[in-house]
Amino acid sequence: MSDLRYELVQGEAIAARMAPLAALRLKVFRDWPYLYEGTLAYERRYLETYSRCPDSLAVLVWDGSTCIGATTTLPLRDAAPEMLEPFLRAGVATGDILYFGESVVLSLYRGRGIGLRFFAEREAHARRLGLGRCAFCAVDRPEQHPMKPAGYVPNDAFWRRRGYQRQPELVCHFDWQDLGEAAPSPHPLTYWLKTL
Ligand SMILES: CC(C)(COP(=O)(O)OP(=O)(O)OC[C@H]1O[C@@H](n2cnc3c(N)ncnc32)[C@H](O)[C@@H]1OP(=O)(O)O)[C@@H](O)C(=O)NCCC(=O)NCCS
Repeated sequence: MSDLRYELVQGEAIAARMAPLAALRLKVFRDWPYLYEGTLAYERRYLETYSRCPDSLAVLVWDGSTCIGATTTLPLRDAAPEMLEPFLRAGVATGDILYFGESVVLSLYRGRGIGLRFFAEREAHARRLGLGRCAFCAVDRPEQHPMKPAGYVPNDAFWRRRGYQRQPELVCHFDWQDLGEAAPSPHPLTYWLKTL
């Protein structure tokens, strides 16, 4: 494999990276546990939250002209209302939290430290913005779900090794259309938090 190039894009410049970001999300999130039957219209709306926020960051990883991995982040206070809702309900302040959108790496490129670098880049961004905590949320699926692949290894241990702790009391709900479903439905996602 050739050398990979990391591209950091902030604020409104993210709009120009809509196509590769959407393509990666649509591909990687079809898999368990996301099962996301996405559309470009949904992706455009989702990514606009980032391009509208001057303090957002996207990291894209390129192998030549192909984007093979990406991650996004923005201050939680600027995230979609659904993401803020559990914090408001629990009375937890959000002003010092950087929210991590997604990390997506094509399967061929996994296990080479790209995911690790994404955490380093996003935590560095939090420090630059003067934010003391980082958070992301992960979808909850039933243990016995029929589409769960045999031998699936969740990311939980990786996230704990990065210093993140699951917060069972902070659960948000996000609508998307699951593979094989006719319409979008709400999905529970539990937050993970780290104090830098
Ligand atoms: C999570 C993800 C971004 C990690 O990317 P990555 O570049 O493989 O990450 P790294 O190489 O830095 O390895 C990170 C961890 O992934 C796991 N891993 C290693 N090789 C792997 C492989 N071939 N396939 C899957 N996971 C692997 C390990 O647990 C590793 O942690 P460790 O080094 O502390 O043991 C990537 O697996 C992915 O895109 N998964 C699907 C989407 C997803 O679940 N995103 C996270 C929530 S949005």
